[in-house]
Amino acid sequence: MRVTVFNGSPLASGNTSALSSVLMAKLVERGAVVEEIMLFQKNLLGCNHCNRCRTGDLPMRCSIPDDMIHLYNKFLDSDLLIFASPIYMWNLTPCTLAFITRLHSLCRNPEGHNLMKGRNVALALTMGDETDVAKHAVGAISEFCEYFLINLRGELSVPFADRGKILAGECDGDADAFLDRILGQS
Ligand SMILES: Cc1cc2nc3c(=O)[nH]c(=O)nc-3n(C[C@H](O)[C@H](O)[C@H](O)COP(=O)(O)O)c2cc1C
Repeated sequence: MRVTVFNGSPLASGNTSALSSVLMAKLVERGAVVEEIMLFQKNLLGCNHCNRCRTGDLPMRCSIPDDMIHLYNKFLDSDLLIFASPIYMWNLTPCTLAFITRLHSLCRNPEGHNLMKGRNVALALTMGDETDVAKHAVGAISEFCEYFLINLRGELSVPFADRGKILAGECDGDADAFLDRILGQS
């Protein structure tokens, strides 16, 4: 199984990266081939609504010549996609949202031409406060997945996130239960 973690934290050594490293180590133990992509380090703009992916001009492709061109391949080649993000202002980070909005070009019609259909997505979130602050972000991703016929396999939210505690194993039980859920082992 090929798993790609799209990490939307600006911090390579922050809380979300700690959570991502815990999840990746456990995924490797379970036999997965794992790759992490740091979205903030990419040249990645948001959708500009040129609509060329929706017209005959550039069907199912994006006109913006940035790093997203490679990320589409990562998205399409993975059996499981984990969107990892800190919560910023009750939302996913701007680079995570830029990445997700750009996925729009993979679909012309949810039931028809839709390269997102049937993909498996999971969310791994960290936040400074209690998990309630993530409810809008989780709700938006649930709606996104429902509309584009994506399987949202599960969500792991780490409240009061602390890198040291995450690396010391504080989330290990929740991380194992999350992986059981998203890999379909429970
Ligand atoms: C600009 C900004 C906005 C934030 N907004 C929230 C928020 O709305 N709710 C919350 O619980 N934590 C918020 N936080 C805290 C982060 O979500 C939390 O510290 C997170 O674990 C940081 O992950 P990182 O180390 O990977 O960047 C915010 C942090 C920043 C820098």
